[in-house]
Amino acid sequence: MEDEILGEEVVEVSMEVNGESVVLQTRSNRTLLSILREDLHLTGVKEGCGIGECGACTVLMNGKAVNACMVLAPKADGAVITTIEGLGDDKHLHPLQQAFIEHGAVQCGFCTPGMILSAKALLDKNPNPTRLEIREGISGNLCRCTGYQQIVDAIEAVANRRQEEGS
Ligand code: FES
Ligand code: FES
Repeated sequence: MEDEILGEEVVEVSMEVNGESVVLQTRSNRTLLSILREDLHLTGVKEGCGIGECGACTVLMNGKAVNACMVLAPKADGAVITTIEGLGDDKHLHPLQQAFIEHGAVQCGFCTPGMILSAKALLDKNPNPTRLEIREGISGNLCRCTGYQQIVDAIEAVANRRQEEGS
């Protein structure tokens, strides 16, 4: 459904967010980042640069890592979205979350949600990546604190553990 409010186009957006159906009406020029943070209160999605360069706002959209600050509301219609709040549950962290803690890959934590979602997208597509492939997989996510080494170690540890468990 489309309507006009205060001269701006309003669109209806239906999404599945972390397993829940969400339907909302919003201005067509709003970003997925703003909808997730302000309307759905999913503040694990971080706003850094706001222009597609830092990866802090990374979410999974139909299984692919995207910068939520670059997705306008109409593009999210019909999408399946996963944010960091959708990983793990109240009792168990997701293995990537656990590994980031174990390897000291979380310092200030601002990049962490986006970094973990990029890592998840990578491992879902390539369960046994090389360290170079891991670096490439998180190349859109900037971290000011860790120097990346611990992050790569954490992602590699999860991949290795899964290989061992699968063998
Ligand atoms: S806030 Fe989206 S890429 Fe920086
Ligand atoms: S842990 Fe601070 S930006 Fe990555």
